[in-house]
Amino acid sequence: MIHPITLVGLMGSGKTTLAAALGEYFGWPVYDTDSWVEARENKPISEIVQVHGWDYFRFQEAEFCQSFAEIGPSIIATGGGFILTESNLHWLLHKTVSVYLHVDPEVALSRITQSSQGASLSRPLLDGHSRKEQEAILYELYTQRDPLYRSVQYTIDGNAPLDQVLHELIEIASISEVE
Ligand code: S3P
Repeated sequence: MIHPITLVGLMGSGKTTLAAALGEYFGWPVYDTDSWVEARENKPISEIVQVHGWDYFRFQEAEFCQSFAEIGPSIIATGGGFILTESNLHWLLHKTVSVYLHVDPEVALSRITQSSQGASLSRPLLDGHSRKEQEAILYELYTQRDPLYRSVQYTIDGNAPLDQVLHELIEIASISEVE
């Protein structure tokens, strides 16, 4: 069976954009754990967290793995904190071909800011903070999570231009197709 390709990494590492491009390239379905939880709860993440708290959101993320326990060729973009839940990490390692898109925190922040075009960043961990605070938060998340992200199967340089990163992902997905 061809396993799904899962993308992990910091918010702003390009997971959603690259998952869409990769899905289009292979003609495989694309899933996004954030969108899946939002659709299930019929609320944006900011509201889910505000109403029910982070533990509830993390629990919903873990439900994704239950629903997609045995899934064929597909691309899955995971939320930045998905790997924090032990059972999710186990699922990533045993049921998927997992790839860490490594980006420096400053690159992540500039991509998030560019894509939001001055509107809300749609990232409850960053919204409502000054630029300086956002830099500090992302740096902190990076420091805490980088070792965990690195425990997945592949680590690639996500700081590179997106078409270059896409090329590397296509190679990884092609290898996993014949394994
Ligand atoms: C989070 C990242 C977000 C989303 C939620 C929490 C995190 O996903 O799951 O706001 O803990 O880093 P993206 O990485 O897709 O922005």
